[in-house]
Amino acid sequence: MILWAIFGYLLGSVPFGLVITRALGLGDLRQIGSGNIGATNVLRTGNKGAALATLLLDSGKGAIAVLLARHFGGEAAAILAGGAAFLGHCFPIWLRFKGGKGVATFLGTVIALNWPLGLIACATWALTAAITRISSLSALLAAALAPVFAWGLGRTDIAAVAAFMAVLIFIRHHANISRLLAGTEPRIGRK
Ligand code: G3P
Repeated sequence: MILWAIFGYLLGSVPFGLVITRALGLGDLRQIGSGNIGATNVLRTGNKGAALATLLLDSGKGAIAVLLARHFGGEAAAILAGGAAFLGHCFPIWLRFKGGKGVATFLGTVIALNWPLGLIACATWALTAAITRISSLSALLAAALAPVFAWGLGRTDIAAVAAFMAVLIFIRHHANISRLLAGTEPRIGRK
């Protein structure tokens, strides 16, 4: 079981946002916008394709960790690998544990763990983003509701890992929360 946690963590540790922006010569993501390595900040480089690729790969690494672990190790291994991939994204070994805020990896992990729940989480994010145009607020709402919906679907095991990820997402968004409260959080695509 520990091997699935290590596998998930190492896969989650790959910082696709940094890899893609460096490969495309878009500058140092750490010096742009919020300084975060996620898709929202990649969009601030002005390259929509790079942002979409970051979103897909950061969510895909969570989903792949879950699906492989489930196939070879069962449901408990899948939950462990998904949680570990999320931790890897937030605290990657390759970046001296200074990683991202975990939202895309959280969504990918949840989709693979339980697709109806993933659909609800993505819809919560998309609907909030469509109304407010604020990525962090959308992420915070989706993260906060996911454990509640998982519990409602009768998946207390997934609710537990979703709650763990939600707590970390809130902690990782502490600067965003301060800006939201101050009314200075930028809209999607703005610096
Ligand atoms: O997914 C991260 C997002 O919720 C906030 O990103 O760059 O605006 O801090 P950013």
